[in-house]
Order: sequence, then C-alpha cells, then structure tokens
Amino acid sequence: MIRPRNDTLLRALLRQPTPYTPIWLMRQAGRYLPEYNEARARAGSFLALCRNPDLAAEVTLQPLARFALDAAIVFSDILVIPDAMGLGLYFTEGEGPRFERPLRDEWEVRNLVAPDPEEHLRYVLDTVAQVRRALGNEVPLIGFSGSPFTLACYMVEGGSSGDFHEVKRMLYQRPELLHRILETNAGAVSAYLNAQIEHGAQAVMIFDTWGGTLAHEAYREFSLRYIEHVLSGLKRAHGGERVPNIVFTRGGGQWLDEIAASGCDAVGLDWTVDLGAARRQVGEHVALQGNLDPAVLLTSPAVIREEARKILAAYGYGSGHVFNLGHGVSPAAPPEHVAALVEAAHGLSKEYHRKAAP
Ligand code: CP3
Repeated sequence: MIRPRNDTLLRALLRQPTPYTPIWLMRQAGRYLPEYNEARARAGSFLALCRNPDLAAEVTLQPLARFALDAAIVFSDILVIPDAMGLGLYFTEGEGPRFERPLRDEWEVRNLVAPDPEEHLRYVLDTVAQVRRALGNEVPLIGFSGSPFTLACYMVEGGSSGDFHEVKRMLYQRPELLHRILETNAGAVSAYLNAQIEHGAQAVMIFDTWGGTLAHEAYREFSLRYIEHVLSGLKRAHGGERVPNIVFTRGGGQWLDEIAASGCDAVGLDWTVDLGAARRQVGEHVALQGNLDPAVLLTSPAVIREEARKILAAYGYGSGHVFNLGHGVSPAAPPEHVAALVEAAHGLSKEYHRKAAP
C-alpha cells in the first residue's frame, strides 16, 4: 500500500504553512497502553525492551496504530548515554532509574569518555533504522537525547532526585568538575543525535528535564551553554532534507529569549507557559511545541476538547505550532482520552490555517 506523505510536523517546525496543527505526545509509547505493557512483559524489563530493536520498533509504532499522530518518536531512554559510558543503568520498581557507578570521585570524572554511538548504542540506531523502514514517509520519525546537564544530574546523583543536592554541590564547589562532565556529555549528545539522523531520524529533540531547577545564571552557564554546543555540532540536513531540532527545558519559561537564540528551530514549552505570550515573545524566530497540562488527559473528552481549543486559540492563526503536552503522558491516562485529544487538535486547528486570518 502506498501511503501519502505526512510531513506536517517537519513543516510546522520550520514555520512553513500546514493545513492543520500537527500533534504528537511525549511518552506516547508507554504504560497507559495495554499493548505496551504486554510487549514490556515479553521483553522481561523496560531496559530489555529498549535493547531489543524488534520490540522497541514495535512499541514505537503502537501509538500510531491507534491514533492519527503526526510523528513517531523512537522508543528508548535518555539514560542510555551514561549507561554506554559505563555507569551501569538499572531500574527498580517504584524508584525509577539508578546507576551502579555514579560519578562521585574526581578520577571518575577525569576518566569519563563519550561513547561511540555506532558501537555502544548500536541497538538504538538499529531501532531507528527499523522504524524508519516500517514508516517510510508516512509520518516523520523523531530522534532524541537528554541535554548535557539533565544527563549529568542522573550521573552525579546516581538516579532520580528531589533536590539535586549532589549535582548542585558540585556546581558551586567544584564547577570545573561539572564543566568537565558537561563537555564530555555535549560531545556524546551531538555524536548520538547525528548518528540517529544518519540512521533515519528526521527531527531531533533535546530533553532538558532538569535545567529549570537551576538558578538564573547557572542555567545559562551549565545547561544552555552546553545545549548550544550540541546544536553547533548537529547536522542540519540529511539526504537533501532539513532536519529540524527542538529544545525543551522543563521550567524554562522565564528564559525563552535565551533559548530561542540558542540556534534551535523549535522550543518545547511546559504547561506553566502562556503559549500566546511566548509566541509574541519569540515566535518570529522559532516554532513552539506544547503545552497542554498532561493532567487534562485524566478528565473527559469534553474537557479535553475545550482545553485543546484554548491552546490552539492561544497560539492563534498561522503555522509554527506543534501540539503536544507540557510533559509526558501519564500511565493513568485512558487511551480513549488520547484519541479525543488528537481528534480535537486536528479538527479544531484547521480554522487557524486558512489562507487569510479574519
Ligand atoms: O516519548 C516517548 O514515547 C519516547 C520514549 C521516552 C522514554 N523516556 C521512555 C520511558 C523518552 C523520550 C524518555 C525520555 C526521558 N527518560 C526523560 C526526559 C523526558 C522526561 O520525561 O522528563 C527522562 C528524565 C528519562 C529518565 C527516566 N526514564 C525516568 C525518570 C523514568 C522513570 C519514570 C517513569 O515514568 O516511570 C524512565 C523510565 C521510562 N522511560 C519509561 C518509559 C516508557 C517507563 C518505564 C517502564 O515501562 O516501566
């Protein structure tokens, strides 16, 4: 079957005209889908699922079989980079990710080296290639990485953390050590994203989940600066096609001007940001992605439709908006509610893309 090419997402990221607002969702493949839980059980664990390209590709495509989403995102995790650096990633039930060997001593930091993605992250690149073969040009495939700082948070803390005391202690007391980690991470992230692009990713996203926990000056020096390093080393086109990138700093709403000037094509917004104000502030320079509160998916189709309408109205007429949540889909979200959101975003957005705004 020859399926039509849907490149709405790529066009919106490049602020080109589209017939409607494209939508995809962070964590669109995940525990809210029974077929995901079934595949995860077959794999034996979350990490085994990530490391098996056949199953990871299957899981990547699951939400697309159910919903008319405008993009796929490769199924993996941001923590595969530090794992490939030798830190020993594992997951414990209820506690989230942990590392066997977090970076605590100076010699561990000095010995840190960026992994060769072709060798140490082969399974992710194989998943990317496999998904791309299955998709063709049906919808674009998004590759991703954590930001250098967000990866460093897990590498120094040794896992999820409420207060980030270890990484912040290092930031204030031994800044040169944290800079050393961040430089290594930036090189690793560029190489990893470029490898994903070479193997078929058509857009890439940098998840800076914890940049927003930093003090004002520290955000610029320890997070944004290294995102800029990554962007400056990134392939901007592949096979004659532009490869747009998205930078998402969760909690980064007060730094929109700086993020928009980082060299990215699009800025991801969490739900605390006023999308209309953000467009007026930086919409001339970048596309915007977001930013429905993920909790809305726990309500009802009628409420979901109304809240989606508000997001679309806040952005207003014209291109440059990619509909998404402000963070990932909750495991508690009913799949029918995700269907209602995708339908609402598509249906209600058409009027905002007619040739002439009223
Ligand atoms: O969006 C997608 O569908 C692609 C897959 C994806 C996952 N993790 C799968 C996953 C993506 C893009 C990520 C990114 C990621 N991973 C981030 C940045 C985005 C964010 O959520 O803030 C972070 C911080 C991580 C690290 C991580 N991985 C944590 C903290 C956890 C545990 C939290 C949780 O939800 O349980 C994970 C596990 C994880 N990554 C799951 C999935 C589907 C759940 C694992 C499971 O099946 O048990």
